[in-house]
Amino acid sequence: MKKYIKPTLFGLLALFLLAQFIRPEKNLSNDRTNDISLKYPVPEPVQAILKVACDDCHSNYTVYPWYAEVQPVAAWLANHVEDGKKHLNFSNFTSRRVAVQNHKFEEIIEMVKEGEMPLASYTWVHRDAILTEAQKQTLINWAQANMDSLKTQYPADSLVMQRR
Ligand code: HEC
Repeated sequence: MKKYIKPTLFGLLALFLLAQFIRPEKNLSNDRTNDISLKYPVPEPVQAILKVACDDCHSNYTVYPWYAEVQPVAAWLANHVEDGKKHLNFSNFTSRRVAVQNHKFEEIIEMVKEGEMPLASYTWVHRDAILTEAQKQTLINWAQANMDSLKTQYPADSLVMQRR
């Protein structure tokens, strides 16, 4: 019995050590050329919520905890950030068509209302990202106000997502 356990443990340890050489690229460009705040007002309370609860996965700047250095956690986090940014990137928000921007606000309202964002796996560690009812309402009101303002600035059909 012993004979088999030792090589297996050694193999796992070797794999773990080898995996540490895989360094996923970090999300630290901080490129805000098309930042949401250039077009939409982002009041301080909203900004504060986005910063603690959303920006790590939805902006060009992630604040990495120490364990992000350790594989396989690093790969798992990198995946979340990549996926999150693909769906919604506040640092690159205004580069999207206005219909997309409008739609993203709609989705923010939906996700926050349903408690789907921030991701549960995130709030499990980042307890300060668990949104209070008041914080949720702040985000929802903000997104709604931006949609209302778009409605006054653009013709209705330009705000509808086209199927392509
Ligand atoms: C730990 C990373 C993480 C955090 C933190 C996070 N998100 Fe996300 N978000 C994702 C990922 C990954 C997706 C895409 C997959 C999915 O929908 O589950 C996503 C999808 C979304 C979408 C859907 C966009 C679309 O086009 O489908 C919205 C809206 C959203 N997030 C808003 C938020 C808001 C608002 C916050 C903060 C209150 C937040 N997210 C916090 C990772 C995160």
